[in-house]
Amino acid sequence: MPERRLNTSRPMVLPPDAPTTPFPIRLSGHVVKGFGRGSKELGIPTANLSDDALKALCEEIETGIYYGWVQLGDKDTAIHPMVMSVGWNPYYHNEKKSAEVHVIHQFEHDFYNAQIRVIVLGYIRAEQNYPSLDALIEDILTDVEVAKNCLDRKAYLEYKQDELFVHVKN
Ligand SMILES: Cc1cc2nc3c(=O)[nH]c(=O)nc-3n(C[C@H](O)[C@H](O)[C@H](O)COP(=O)(O)O)c2cc1C
Repeated sequence: MPERRLNTSRPMVLPPDAPTTPFPIRLSGHVVKGFGRGSKELGIPTANLSDDALKALCEEIETGIYYGWVQLGDKDTAIHPMVMSVGWNPYYHNEKKSAEVHVIHQFEHDFYNAQIRVIVLGYIRAEQNYPSLDALIEDILTDVEVAKNCLDRKAYLEYKQDELFVHVKN
């Protein structure tokens, strides 16, 4: 991926210091195919949540961009930071609401049909429309940095031990 700039007009970490209502929100479902633009056009792959997980989520939160932890599949027990977009993707004029998770980790393969477990811990910003694809990418890459900083706080790190996730037994 070419070197990208971040949106430096935004704060790089957001309050609060511990998750507050309605968080944490726990979701599980599986990964379904999106429109496939995430990897191709944006260079930012996303895992789309199945309708069951999406329905549970939409009952609890507004559209927008969120952060938290994610675990994928049933063998790999790694828990990764994630950013999630919930809504209509105004830049692409989608007609169906979706929830897409970008896992902050480099994978060699995709995850269609894999199980996905997500804990949403905080809100980053509202969905926006953009004058260009570059401006959208710049804001998503900024969301990634904001999410990493926000999750690197004690009260957020603790959720990696949550019982939603599969843990290796010693
Ligand atoms: C963290 C994050 C933030 C996003 N923010 C926006 C946004 O503000 N506006 C928008 O139109 N789409 C936003 N998107 C959605 C992208 O447009 C979306 O990932 C793209 O449409 C690819 O979807 P597809 O793989 O289903 O084709 C965001 C996606 C992520 C992962």
